[in-house]
Amino acid sequence: MPEPSAELTILALETSCDETAAAIVRGGRTIVANIVASQIDIHRRYGGVVPEVASRQHVLAIPAVVEAALAQLPGGWDAVGAVAATYGPGLAGALLTGLNAAKAIAWARELPFVGVNHIEAHIYANWLAGGKHDAGAAGATPSAPAPQPPAPEPQFPLVALVVSGGHTLLALLEGHGRYRLLGQTRDDAAGEAFDKAARIMGLGVPGGPAIQQAAAQAPGGVTLPRAWLRDSYDFSFSGLKTAVLHQIQGHQNREARVATKNLPQRKSPADAPAPPTTAAPRPPERHIAQLAYAFQESVVDVLVTKTVDAARAHGATEILLAGGVAANTRLRAELARRAHIPVRCPPIALCTDNAAMIAAAAFYRFEEGRQNGWDLDVRPNLPLGFA
Ligand code: KG4
Ligand code: ZN
Repeated sequence: MPEPSAELTILALETSCDETAAAIVRGGRTIVANIVASQIDIHRRYGGVVPEVASRQHVLAIPAVVEAALAQLPGGWDAVGAVAATYGPGLAGALLTGLNAAKAIAWARELPFVGVNHIEAHIYANWLAGGKHDAGAAGATPSAPAPQPPAPEPQFPLVALVVSGGHTLLALLEGHGRYRLLGQTRDDAAGEAFDKAARIMGLGVPGGPAIQQAAAQAPGGVTLPRAWLRDSYDFSFSGLKTAVLHQIQGHQNREARVATKNLPQRKSPADAPAPPTTAAPRPPERHIAQLAYAFQESVVDVLVTKTVDAARAHGATEILLAGGVAANTRLRAELARRAHIPVRCPPIALCTDNAAMIAAAAFYRFEEGRQNGWDLDVRPNLPLGFA
């Protein structure tokens, strides 16, 4: 393949979980189109993503999202210079739908094709020209025009904190595609912890935004533990989730004791009280809000402390925040406040799964002369490629 021009226009697909996404990005940084069809309303009724349902929905949605993206590209199909898709990590069946569709498009149009690592792509959302230096500010929508002038490209070495539903890791980026893993979660990913804790608290799906919203109602009142795992950049969030569960159970037990104490005295067998109901009472809204606040504080404190320490230890020029949990406004603000160097994070809409970030990562792959053949298969457990 010839050297990719700065204007190389890439059509990318993302189907690793429950978002069917297609995007067109020019020169690795300029978003031409960014279409995301979320399946969340379908999965919500099951309390989480059902892999088979996700795959089928992708098959139904891919043609429409591709057409919607193409409709925003002046010149249409003829202006597309290359095709990319996520090939891992993610749900196998879901990945297959996007990867095969992208390969078919590339084959039919005789275009170069490259597979992209989903975690790497989350980091590359920071190369999109919509990225901001002001981590505390809420971002633009993905289809909003790029700010003028666009933020300069991030300069290596960089420290990236990737916090998504499936992954939580700290990496040192020494160049395009050159990563050193500094630490990762030993159990739940940060987003997974948000989702599980939200479920325990009876909040909605997805849990991250639900906890953030509840936390905004009640600052303070409850403190939850932090797993520091000293002398390591690793993380652990499963104990925190258990602490939330114990708080809820403690409340329910107290309620049950009060209810038993207040039962009327039995005078005769005929007066026997009705058996207690099995449905455990949910703590009042205020207590849930306090728990949500304490949970969020605990996660944010550990993430921010370790990220800032790692950036200092490795002489990073900037900190990059990435992944769905990077949408958390408390995390963005606290990292910006405590970091000694600039913090860059994508606009909120580019933090969660989208295909513009796939196209951005693909651009730098093509620049390095990398592309894939038709034999590329899905890799559900694909790790970030550490040098
Ligand atoms: O990156 P992503 O869209 O999908 C994966 O690749 O996993 O991340 C989804 C995760 C979910 O766990 C969701 O609860 C979390 O990101 N998330 C948030 C927020 N928005 C999404 N977590 C905390 N605060 C948010 N505002
Ligand atoms: Zn993701």
